[in-house]
Amino acid sequence: MRLAVIAGDGIGPEVVAEGLKVLRSVAPDLETTDYDLGATRWQRTGELLPDTVLDELRGHDAILLGAIGDPGVPPGILERGLLLRLRFELDHHVNLRPAKLYDGVRSPLAEPGEIDMLCVREGTEGPYVGNGGVLRRDTPHEVATEVSLNTAFGVERVVRYAFERATARPRRHLTLIHKTNVLTHAGSLWSRTVEEVGAEFPEVTVTYQHVDAASMFFITDPGRYDVIVTDNLFGDIVTDVAAAVTGGIGLAASGNLDVSGTNPSMFEPVHGSAPDIAGQGVADPTATVLSVALLLDHLGRTDQARKVGAAVAFDLSTRDPRGRVRTTEVGDRLAALA
Ligand code: NAI
Ligand code: MG
Repeated sequence: MRLAVIAGDGIGPEVVAEGLKVLRSVAPDLETTDYDLGATRWQRTGELLPDTVLDELRGHDAILLGAIGDPGVPPGILERGLLLRLRFELDHHVNLRPAKLYDGVRSPLAEPGEIDMLCVREGTEGPYVGNGGVLRRDTPHEVATEVSLNTAFGVERVVRYAFERATARPRRHLTLIHKTNVLTHAGSLWSRTVEEVGAEFPEVTVTYQHVDAASMFFITDPGRYDVIVTDNLFGDIVTDVAAAVTGGIGLAASGNLDVSGTNPSMFEPVHGSAPDIAGQGVADPTATVLSVALLLDHLGRTDQARKVGAAVAFDLSTRDPRGRVRTTEVGDRLAALA
């Protein structure tokens, strides 16, 4: 397994070290290449993602990313120049974000019930494509546009992937989340695509929900969801709610997938570089380890993925909920369990 590693900034290197520890314990054939990208490199050299580095990344089976960001970098620079650029260049059209409430994990909900959902968020279209502009900046007549781009091709491949995942899960249920009553153009494309692709998956039950109603049900009745498919912006927002009700940012994992396999997919914890706790050895590496499980699953290493997932489930069920997390201790435990 040839893995490119972008540890990044802040707690990124701390959690990635533990992720690799666990990965190495189940996949001894692991070969890693480290890439120094992120705020620190930008501050030192002004470089974000040199083309030569992008080419090298393409030669790997997958990418593991820690976190990118620093309070000293103006907003937008790293997001557009590095994180979003990686997603677009490597055609990461599926942003996969599971949200499961593990035994032993406290949800902020009084009666969370069982929560086990898989959100399939579109990753390369919607309002995130940078299609827009500004006129008359810094005047009272300033105009700003941000156009949401939705293509039949782009929506179809993500919806198809969501149906494939739904059909492989026991409940075989898929919820489309959108705002079809107001965003009628894009909404109609998404609805028709779900209907058309759904005809090929008669065993999957399909529900539709407006994103505002869904945000409410994520809190009042999250157990109703199985697989979710949604656009880039709605997916960004509702998955943070899903992460919150299933134990928070220290546990939320994600994969940025090129489902076609043409480019390496990239796996990363949902959280950022957490400058407030960086360097203290107290970041929870579990989100990174769960991202490693997604990575293994994506590479068809189902057994290894299952071992990592089981190690996390066991560790969480036996953790002292009041105890303080020590990054390396969690990594050592998980590596031993896996
Ligand atoms: P953040 O996720 O870094 O931190 C939010 C809060 O959660 C902080 O209190 C932090 O201490 C805590 N936290 C995060 N991860 C944790 C972990 N593994 N264990 C325990 N506590 C954890 O989000 P924030 O503060 O908004 O952003 C910080 C920087 O990270 C910014 O520069 C931002 O742009 C960047 N960022 C990068 C992302 C990425 O690389 N994909 C995603 C989100 C933010
Ligand atoms: Mg987000």
